[in-house]
Amino acid sequence: MLSPNITNIAYLIAAVLFIFGLRGLAHPRTAVNGNRTAALGMILAIAVTLLSGRFEWQYIIIGVAIGGVLGAVAAMRIKMTAMPEMVGLFNGFGGAASVLVAGSALVAAMQHATAAGPDAQMKIATVATGIIGSVTFFGSYVAFGKLAEFLAVRWKLYTWQKIVKYGFSLIVTAGAVWFGVISINEAGVPLAAGLMLSGVLIGGLLLNKKDRFPGMNALKVILGAVAVILGVLVVLNPGNTMLFWVMVGAAGVLGVILTFSIGGADMPVVIALLNSYSGLAAAATGFVINNNVLIVSGSLVGASGIILTNIMCKAMNRSLANVLFGVLGPTGDTPSDDDVYAGKVKAASAEEIAMLFDGARRVAIVPGYGMAAAQAQHAVRDLANLLEQRGIEVDFAIHPVAGRMPGHMNVLLAEANVEYDKLREMDEVNPTLAQTDVAIVIGANDVVNPVARTDPSSPIAGMPIIDVDKARTVVVIKRSLSPGFAGIPNPLFALDNTLMFFNDGKKAVLDIITAVKES
Ligand code: TAP
Repeated sequence: MLSPNITNIAYLIAAVLFIFGLRGLAHPRTAVNGNRTAALGMILAIAVTLLSGRFEWQYIIIGVAIGGVLGAVAAMRIKMTAMPEMVGLFNGFGGAASVLVAGSALVAAMQHATAAGPDAQMKIATVATGIIGSVTFFGSYVAFGKLAEFLAVRWKLYTWQKIVKYGFSLIVTAGAVWFGVISINEAGVPLAAGLMLSGVLIGGLLLNKKDRFPGMNALKVILGAVAVILGVLVVLNPGNTMLFWVMVGAAGVLGVILTFSIGGADMPVVIALLNSYSGLAAAATGFVINNNVLIVSGSLVGASGIILTNIMCKAMNRSLANVLFGVLGPTGDTPSDDDVYAGKVKAASAEEIAMLFDGARRVAIVPGYGMAAAQAQHAVRDLANLLEQRGIEVDFAIHPVAGRMPGHMNVLLAEANVEYDKLREMDEVNPTLAQTDVAIVIGANDVVNPVARTDPSSPIAGMPIIDVDKARTVVVIKRSLSPGFAGIPNPLFALDNTLMFFNDGKKAVLDIITAVKES
């Protein structure tokens, strides 16, 4: 067994590695090494923790084997477009792990309690972990389910979606009812009933096909208050462990309805926020079991998650409260597709687009979610190289919330070996667009929608956008006139200087490359 001093020194080294890792992640060139540095810190922290105590190894080996295999398979098989779902799910596991550690630490502390019982730090940290961890777990499950489109939808589900949706609801409801029934004599009827009620509510709410219902905001406040009151009761009476589980149940219902009402387009923000919560839950667990590295790593996750949340909110010009409690989507004032497009949209062919590059000096490529969906990044790089060979200056204009996760476009373009120097941030590129001959919008929609600038009643009013409409000619590559995630029409497609190329993103770019070569 390692001595506490050695353990703490190793934890300090691990914490320093985490911080250098995060620093590395701040720039694409150093990100891979940053990731490795942080992973090294985590291996050190895990190894030292395992060597510093006596454990029942069989459980640890079983847990590591199951978690390791599931994590590795998920990480290797996941598509880039589904990354937010996976991150959401993993945050949830972090929250659940924290709740289980804090709950079992409470049970163990009460079994071996001295006359004084657990100290105030442990009691308060246990309550904080229970509430934050449970909100994180159930909120993350909802975020995952909404992104994977099996929660709060009215259409027909695939078999796997049905299994996850109904299976999860059933397990939560049956688990809570079973635990309530077996502990009714010891815990008393009110607490057992409270636990069963929270399980039934969670299971039932998760089957709802609408994501809002009347009185939802009031219920959020009531549930928040109930969870805090139960938390105070746990601190006053830690021996009643059933109180802790009822508090976890109430926080779980809160997690479900907090996340359920948030629109799909805002899910990446919610996932960053839940990531921050999972860090806070882990940090609180560190105080429960007096583990320094858990406190440090949890705090780093908590802080970085909230910073990322803030960056995303700013990029959409929305407050966090608006993301959490507002609705993003078409309203009664949103014009219809016919009003915006009828008779005004001009479709072009690859050959017509290739001709635009004759005599062009500057081209800006603006990628969005559709480039990710079409996996067109390699073709886009080839087009950029081809245009550069013809003496045209090509830049990539990157909107901070283009795609479905932070840095989505940067990651895809880096994967295609586009030089990082060619990526221009929105603020840098916007002043240059008026001198740009051709702006090629590939699978982007909301992030180039000029109503954000011109219509104060629009759901995306005030969101900073890439001003492609100011370029001499705009080419928009997408399959149809369907809206983007915000669900509203885009008058850019009907402007005089816009040509639409209706096609799958990858196919369209390959066709343009062929046409340019032949021209
Ligand atoms: P969107 O506005 O979602 O538009 C994507 C467009 O891609 C769609 O209109 C779709 O049109 C097209 N598309 C889909 N598959 C395609 C394919 N295979 N080939 C060609 N086109 C395809 O995307 P955006 O402009 O990147 O904006 C992102 C949205 O997500 C914003 O509303 C943003 O606020 C929101 N959001 C993002 C984040 C992060 S962190 N990225 C966070 C929060 C919110 P067709 O179906 O007609 O092809």
